[in-house]
Amino acid sequence: MTLLHDTISADGRKEGAGEILSIRGGRPLTGRVEVKGAKNLVTKAMVAALLGESPSILRDVPDISDVAVVRSLLEVHGVRVQEADEPGSLMLDPRDVESAHMEEIDAHAGASRIPILFCGPLLHRLGQAFIPDLGGCRIGDRPIDFHLDALRKFGAVVDKLPTGIRLSAPAGLRGANIHLPYPSVGATEQVLLTAVRANGVTELRNAAIEPEIMDLIAVLQKMGAIISYEPNRVILIEGVDRLEGYDHRAVFDRNEAASWASAALATNGEIFVGGARQPEMLTFLNVLRKVGAGFEIREDGILFRRDGDLRPVTVETDVHPGFMTDWQQPLIVALTQAHGESIVHETVYENRFGFTDALVKMGADIVVHPHGLQGGPRRVPRRNLEQAAVINGPTPLHGADIVVPDLRGGYSHVIAALTAEGESTVRNVGIIRRGYEKFFDKLAAVGADFDVIG
Ligand code: EPU
Repeated sequence: MTLLHDTISADGRKEGAGEILSIRGGRPLTGRVEVKGAKNLVTKAMVAALLGESPSILRDVPDISDVAVVRSLLEVHGVRVQEADEPGSLMLDPRDVESAHMEEIDAHAGASRIPILFCGPLLHRLGQAFIPDLGGCRIGDRPIDFHLDALRKFGAVVDKLPTGIRLSAPAGLRGANIHLPYPSVGATEQVLLTAVRANGVTELRNAAIEPEIMDLIAVLQKMGAIISYEPNRVILIEGVDRLEGYDHRAVFDRNEAASWASAALATNGEIFVGGARQPEMLTFLNVLRKVGAGFEIREDGILFRRDGDLRPVTVETDVHPGFMTDWQQPLIVALTQAHGESIVHETVYENRFGFTDALVKMGADIVVHPHGLQGGPRRVPRRNLEQAAVINGPTPLHGADIVVPDLRGGYSHVIAALTAEGESTVRNVGIIRRGYEKFFDKLAAVGADFDVIG
């Protein structure tokens, strides 16, 4: 396996150059795809390897560009990364960790949001860290104030520079009492990765409890950390002096699984997602049941198809165990084919419906209400974010020339083009490889009719 992308996919398409797809839609997608380790765990577990005194092995690593970015950033810090004893596994050896040169770190600026999680591990290993300006999907402001506030509580000194953030810990890091203003996934991971080697106990309140975070806790426990999870989003971490490497198989990518499920519903096809598991997808499956999906849960994965006409639904995105914000974009494509009015409230990000412009161009009836709907009661008003999309269906979609805006929105564009009658040109498709492994191969495996034209 090479973690810097394959340039030619299994059926000979030029994947490396694949920025523009020509898609002929209107056919059901039917077949089987396999999902591997979750992007949102694997990249964090790779960072955790920095904390060990011995090498770690991570299994089921997907070949996606976010992994390549984190790998490269680990390598500039002296971590040796190579394929381990089975395909899709990585050995990460942190025994020669050293300060990287500023220019090398800077080369990663804007490429991903994961570098912010290097703070704690580098402070423990080297007493200092430099974090380049962050990238990631443009889906709102995406500030890092929770991260920096938490790091200061551990005793870190934070200097903001024009090119990034410099951190030091002159007196070492000590356990802290931290209450997050919101159960942020990244800030929870920041606290975990910093607290495990801090001096003393850390109590984290209002923590995120996504399955990927539970899996990161499992990784850290294998390394020697002592972490307990209490009711009501409280996590206790007892700092230890030394951590070793781990051997871990990553939890599956439930976001990718939900994406293919929505593709099956949108195109009236039938897709078996190998590696998908019920427990982590419970909330998604409840919504699919209401929408009229006929899923079948098997030992080795889940089969998704329609069970009659699709029905409209009202959903509100939320932190786990709520309906994930990353699931709404592909689901909305399926909801354009449901009979009636669906409503999707986005409460995690302030601006994550930009992708619907392209669907409207293709014939969908979607109206985005930036300030929410009058009188619509919110389930859990965790934040003052009210953006809502109202989708009226079913509407036939027709081909269009569209540009991918971000990872999940981009996947939705491709699925919309495959649902639409006629030919579409979808540009900027490279972004999708940040989070979907072997994307073109998988499209081909479910019978998508497309060419890579640029
Ligand atoms: N937030 C702040 N301040 C902070 C941190 C977060 O205000 O310091 C806000 C954000 O602006 C956002 C909300 O809190 O409105 C939630 O952000 P969170 O920190 O939970 O998200 P994240 O860690 O940046 C991860 C995933 C996202 C996923 C979210 C929510 C990774 C690399 N990214 O982002 O995944 O949508 O959690 O579950 O794990 C994706 O995979 O496409 C993706 C965007």
